[in-house]
Amino acid sequence: MSHAVFEQTSLAGIKLKNRIIRSATHEGMAGEKGFPTEKLKSLYVRLAKGDAGAIITGNAIIQADGKSSLFAVTMIDDDNSIPAYREITDAVHQYETPIIMQIAHCGRQTRSKSTGLQTVAPSALRDAYYSEDVPKELSENEIDEIIGNFVAAILRTKQAGFDGVQLHLAHGYLLSEFLSSYSNRRKDRWGGSTENKYRIIDEIFKRARETAGDYPILVKLNAYDGRKSGMKIEEAVRIAQMLEKSGCAAIEVSCGVVEDGLYTMRGEKLPADAAMKYNFKYKNLPEFVKAIAKPVIKKFMKQPKPVLKYNLDAAIHIKKGVNIPVIVVGGINNINDINDMIVNSNMDFVSMCRPFIIEPDIVGKFQKGTQAKSKCIMCNYCMIIAEEQPLKCYYGKMPKTIEI
Ligand SMILES: Cc1cc2nc3c(=O)[nH]c(=O)nc-3n(C[C@H](O)[C@H](O)[C@H](O)COP(=O)(O)O)c2cc1C
Repeated sequence: MSHAVFEQTSLAGIKLKNRIIRSATHEGMAGEKGFPTEKLKSLYVRLAKGDAGAIITGNAIIQADGKSSLFAVTMIDDDNSIPAYREITDAVHQYETPIIMQIAHCGRQTRSKSTGLQTVAPSALRDAYYSEDVPKELSENEIDEIIGNFVAAILRTKQAGFDGVQLHLAHGYLLSEFLSSYSNRRKDRWGGSTENKYRIIDEIFKRARETAGDYPILVKLNAYDGRKSGMKIEEAVRIAQMLEKSGCAAIEVSCGVVEDGLYTMRGEKLPADAAMKYNFKYKNLPEFVKAIAKPVIKKFMKQPKPVLKYNLDAAIHIKKGVNIPVIVVGGINNINDINDMIVNSNMDFVSMCRPFIIEPDIVGKFQKGTQAKSKCIMCNYCMIIAEEQPLKCYYGKMPKTIEI
């Protein structure tokens, strides 16, 4: 039976207003120790008032060495943060909107310069983008500790009143590094076969069940990336089936690793101006080098195609292989496509990130029929400038003043 976009529905017992979800978006609005702030709470309230079907938070980090190098990252590594998160869930629930926390460890996709700690990964392989550090290969004990910290974080999200939690298994962060043969070259029980690469995730589910019961655990999964020995759709379907067996509540289908460039969040053009000013790889280059590099990058660095609905085919494959809800994300920007994906392509939910940055009330506008398409121009300045500033839409223009 096909669904309708604007119908009340439920996902693992979570009641959603409609089938359009705000996908996890790093907000850069954490305060001291990575605790949430009033500013972050106001953003979630705006999203809830704007009729998002459900909100997935930006990734909250489970332990210090897994913190991303972006600005003001939220942490979920301390029981003392629970009351502040509880204020957020209470505020959002006033609008009958569910809120799910995404939790992550960034693995090798971070900088020891920003964490102050050694970077870690399944294998000691240098990331082409985060190339300053060679990550340390995790030991058995360290893997065990990470599983424990994921489980502790899951419990915290439950205690803080979140409606569910989403494990970040996408975009080249630690758990997706385990799943991909490109970054996982281990010869022990954590590497090699798909079953071995998946083991860390299965363990998280098993141990979480012991403490958090049937609390909904969703995932965001990479279905593919641009790496030769990386994730391919066929293997992602098998992983999706393993996830279903582990008791996963829903799979959000995404793609790409940071090394791939802006493959996960695509646009027509590279945000070269913003990169030269805010990106740690380029901002300290001498001005004359930047002057030469900028036009060359703009002209010759090919952007991944297509730019719209790029994970739909992968999500359709995954949907055919499992019996749990599938959420599709990536380049979704108008109500006609959303309708088509939900009604004709059998998607259970769609999710969006950038359209909610420029218009937190986009779903309400779609529903009222006052607007059919997002105003987002996919310039990706929001992503580049997230290194130094809280989340904001720049609409393709360089900021004149620094606003914190
Ligand atoms: C500024 C910014 C921050 C993001 N932060 C996260 C994040 O914390 N976790 C995550 O899984 N994806 C993150 N993403 C990726 C988005 O959730 C989404 O998968 C991607 O942007 C494609 O969706 P869109 O075309 O609707 O933007 C981020 C993207 C942007 C632009």
